[in-house]
Amino acid sequence: MSHANQRRFIIEPGGSLSGDIRVPGDKSVSHRAVMLGSVAEGVTRVRGFLEGDDAMATLAAMRALGVRIDGPEAGALTIHGVGLHGLSAPDEPLDLGNSGTSMRLLTGLLCGQRFATTLIGDQSLMTRPMRRVTEPLGQMGADIVTSDKGTAPVGIQPVTSLMGIDYPLPMASAQVKSAVLLAGLYARGETAVTEPGITRDHTERMLQALGYPVEVDGPRVALTGHGRLTGGSIQVPADISSAAFFLVGAAIGAGEAVTLLDVGLNPTRTGVVEILKRMGADLEVIAKGDGAGEPVGDIRIQAASLEGIEIPPSLVPVAIDEFPALFIAAACARGETLLRGAEELRVKESDRIAVMATGLERLGVQVEALPDGIRIVGGRLGGGHVQAKGDHRVAMAFAMAGLVADGPIVIDGCAEVDTSFPGFAGLARSAGLPIAVEEQAG
Ligand code: S3P
Repeated sequence: MSHANQRRFIIEPGGSLSGDIRVPGDKSVSHRAVMLGSVAEGVTRVRGFLEGDDAMATLAAMRALGVRIDGPEAGALTIHGVGLHGLSAPDEPLDLGNSGTSMRLLTGLLCGQRFATTLIGDQSLMTRPMRRVTEPLGQMGADIVTSDKGTAPVGIQPVTSLMGIDYPLPMASAQVKSAVLLAGLYARGETAVTEPGITRDHTERMLQALGYPVEVDGPRVALTGHGRLTGGSIQVPADISSAAFFLVGAAIGAGEAVTLLDVGLNPTRTGVVEILKRMGADLEVIAKGDGAGEPVGDIRIQAASLEGIEIPPSLVPVAIDEFPALFIAAACARGETLLRGAEELRVKESDRIAVMATGLERLGVQVEALPDGIRIVGGRLGGGHVQAKGDHRVAMAFAMAGLVADGPIVIDGCAEVDTSFPGFAGLARSAGLPIAVEEQAG
């Protein structure tokens, strides 16, 4: 799962995007489809599954836990669910690669099982904070050990039972919320989570779509353990987080209109649309309906002159993965953009504040990294050599900067793009980005 190979992107100046673009399936929904389909009773058919390394790590983990899963074949999976109590002990530690979502959600799902499991990952994942999940799960009675630093390996021992808790989330994190709710499936009584800000609610929606009762009351989500999930059909929408790179590329570029097709429009994920609109983007959302509880539609966007803005704190959790792309939009906007209250960006696949600030500086942008955000003064973007530091979203964000830079942009550390967006370079090239890829054996 970890990438021994090094990948470099080289983007020549002068490109512009146009046409209809369909990006791969939503990563968050793909993880949940595999996990919940596995512990449902009966067959779950998934379409539009993201065949990226992260979701594939979850799929391999569920197989190692004894679940038969056919596919993926062109995004289609058939999961032969084993029910909540049908998982079996894996033969070896589960390697979750680069995927924080796999590790945090599986810690929740597996801490109430009758067998032990160990979760490991790549270099980046082994440094990411896990106490945020082990702490509330411990309160539920789970027996989980991490390193002294609170990082993986995550060692889960079986316990006789878990108890429901009423947990106020200390940070706006859908991964923590989901881990507690998934453990709650195995707990006595009610398990509730109250979030301090809106976070993605795919877990709640999919539990309900598979017939598990979930009570949502404003910021509080509750469920009662030991119910049943029933297999069903899940259509995974295109990932708005992957679409975000093309939205930004179209907004800053000089091309014609671009339409992103069949994108997930769950309101807990559409902060990027709202922020781009506030910056002056020429953008239209065309709702198309609903698939297994997730709203879907097209987003049409064309180039416009953008203005820097102060990003409202309420939009931070609903745009959390899109900031690398949005920082590129800010670098091309007139005036200053200020982001605060986004300290979570420091513990993503990389420290996204530091890595983006360093790269933007390399391209000649005036930028100030803040402990919990960034200040970016928009202006002219130059070419240059930047490091993505193995962070997929940083790599794709800087690739889009190539649409406006006045020289070539060379980006190192791009192999992890495959975690969320396999085929990115090819799709971007066919949409009009002059991107070349160099692979080097590492
Ligand atoms: C995710 C939640 C977010 C997001 C991550 C995927 C999920 O993390 O950044 O890429 O699928 O639940 P946090 O919940 O930790 O903010």
